[in-house]
Amino acid sequence: MSQTNNDNTRAFLRNLIQSLYRLAEQPQSHDKPGSIRLKLAGGVSELPVIGHPEPIAQIARQPEIFIKNYNNINMLGISRFNANGEQWRLRSALTQKQYMDAGRSDRLQHIRQQYEAALGSCANAASGRLPYLFLNASIGVFHEALGATLNEPDRLIILFDRIRNLLLRLQFYSWIPMQSGVQAALHSEAEDLLEAIDGYMLDEPGLQRLRQQFNDEMQAQPSFRANEEYLMNLFAGIETTVSTLLWITCQLAAYPEAQANIREALKNDPTPAILDGFISETLRFYPPVPFVVRELARDFNVGGVTLRSGQIILVSIIGAHRHPDYWSRPCQFDPHRSEFMHNSYDKNAFIPFFQGSRMCGGARLARQELREGTRALLLNYTISNNHDHADIDYGLAMRPVDSALPEIRNLERSGIQLSN
Ligand code: HEM
Repeated sequence: MSQTNNDNTRAFLRNLIQSLYRLAEQPQSHDKPGSIRLKLAGGVSELPVIGHPEPIAQIARQPEIFIKNYNNINMLGISRFNANGEQWRLRSALTQKQYMDAGRSDRLQHIRQQYEAALGSCANAASGRLPYLFLNASIGVFHEALGATLNEPDRLIILFDRIRNLLLRLQFYSWIPMQSGVQAALHSEAEDLLEAIDGYMLDEPGLQRLRQQFNDEMQAQPSFRANEEYLMNLFAGIETTVSTLLWITCQLAAYPEAQANIREALKNDPTPAILDGFISETLRFYPPVPFVVRELARDFNVGGVTLRSGQIILVSIIGAHRHPDYWSRPCQFDPHRSEFMHNSYDKNAFIPFFQGSRMCGGARLARQELREGTRALLLNYTISNNHDHADIDYGLAMRPVDSALPEIRNLERSGIQLSN
């Protein structure tokens, strides 16, 4: 893919997210859907956007009516992420218990070790290395959750980049019509990538066992492919976590006083309330999954508007997170936001992991990772900013563009001594 095409793809997806941010600034006073306009080659298309917490909660409670439809992303196969109904139930049973167990407090030490090893190992870290350091740690945590240790994680990091790059384009072509030549090329790229993932699973003993276990449990399902299940779980779990940690880094740089306070609090308590509050505020302000897509399985009335069977809708997490009926000064980042410090927010209005039965399978584990990742970052580095605000990069998750990442300096070099 040429650089220009790649830039156009990124610009289109960035615009889509910016439209959701703009729409959230004119919030729906009641639960009537809004819409965004997509300018396509064949004209303009209006896409309904639900951004009010109440109808979102209704949607989340009825997954059999609001089914998942991730369109071209299906080229990378079927997994619990994009399956519906009985297929989803069977697939989620393959991994859900492992994710829940991995997020238990008695497993915290394992997560801490992964982040301390990745972030502490780099005496001369430059900000450009941060995505790699977080990625390394998150890959370790994800595989530990599934009972696998990797011999060649760097090989997976290269594959992960390929998944990211392809998903960016599959996401783009989920909105923009594609010519059949492009479709054939994307199909063949997806096939190659799935084959490479299968090869990797076969070469890594831990993943070979996982592959076998998946296949044993799903043997009655002829369409099941272990590499497809693994690939989407891998990406869903890691890309979102790394993206959030990068936003947290940006916000710590933008709020140096909060950065110093949290670092100070960490000296006496590994999980101070101001750390959790800061993480939640970052998730509210920059939800790494800014929207989810659903297709209606039958006609349904939302706020007096009938959405038709087959209609695709965007459920705007950004909208819920910025609704003025639910948040004070919703469009302002507040590092000590009282709704989080006093736990007084409405649970329907804070949904970075979505809600209902199709909410994030790894939410508890992700929370632990965000704490431990931020802790390891703050105990090893000072973070400072050269940028007023960070531009958005959006593939399947939203993250700051690499060029906007703050400067990080090793704490000992900057003269700050830590007591622990
Ligand atoms: C900050 C980190 C994370 C965020 C913000 C996040 C957010 C989300 C959201 C919003 C969804 C729903 C997507 C939709 O309905 O279309 C989702 C689904 C999912 N996430 Fe996460 N996620 C995070 C981390 C993780 C981790 C660490 C794992 C596993 C290790 C994970 C595994 C999954 C899976 C398997 C699904 C599909 C759930 C299903 O329908 O069965 N996520 N995530």
